Amino acid sequence: MDNKDRKRNISVAVDGPSGSGKSTLSRAAAKELSLVYVDTGAIYRTVGLAALERGVDPADGVAVSELLPGLSITMGYGEDGLQHMFLDGADVTEAIRHNEVSAAASKAAAIPAVRDFLLEMQRRAAAEHDVIMDGRDIGTVVLPDADVKIFLTAAPEARARRRLLELEQRGETADYETILHDIRARDYQDEHRPIAPLKQAADALLLDTTDLDLGQSMNRLLALVKEKIGP
Ligand code: DC
Repeated sequence: MDNKDRKRNISVAVDGPSGSGKSTLSRAAAKELSLVYVDTGAIYRTVGLAALERGVDPADGVAVSELLPGLSITMGYGEDGLQHMFLDGADVTEAIRHNEVSAAASKAAAIPAVRDFLLEMQRRAAAEHDVIMDGRDIGTVVLPDADVKIFLTAAPEARARRRLLELEQRGETADYETILHDIRARDYQDEHRPIAPLKQAADALLLDTTDLDLGQSMNRLLALVKEKIGP
């Protein structure tokens, strides 16, 4: 490690499929380890929302690329300490969580111009702060020199059960088979796109939470990070 490396900020990359618990665990780990949590999925969701709001098909590479220069996408931290997303000045933190935005984000994320457009923003966050950043390509593309890389995953069935529970707790009705189907479809889309597909970096540590509850997953994640960067 040369001097330049030693002085840079700490970065922890957490990648994995949707519903693997990345955000919940990364957010909690950020608190525990005094790191800034960066949810990169939220940034892609903001582009997905922008396309929907402007009546553009999020899968249309040409149309979405044409939208990008006119978009103002910024990230900030509220008094609650949570990451907020702003689209042309409006706080869209809640709006980007809708189901149709998930699907739009996944489509827009497969467009190379979208990924290029958002890369700098993600790298800047890591250059300015000690971060734990979650996404799909953080360890492979965004922060290839991250101090710790974790690939967090769980069987699709386990992720579908967790999602169902989460929706039920919010009082929403949902159907397990539909959720499982959506999860598999998104996995396929994220794993098979030609650019920055979801895959475990060669030097990432695998954390499979299929048979772990939240507390156990958290302990394992913290242990893996602390092993690499110290307590
Ligand atoms: O993590 P999430 O579900 O909020 O992500 C929304 C979509 O954005 C997801 O379908 C994949 C995409 N994404 C990506 O391609 N690269 C990232 N670093 C983060 C998310």
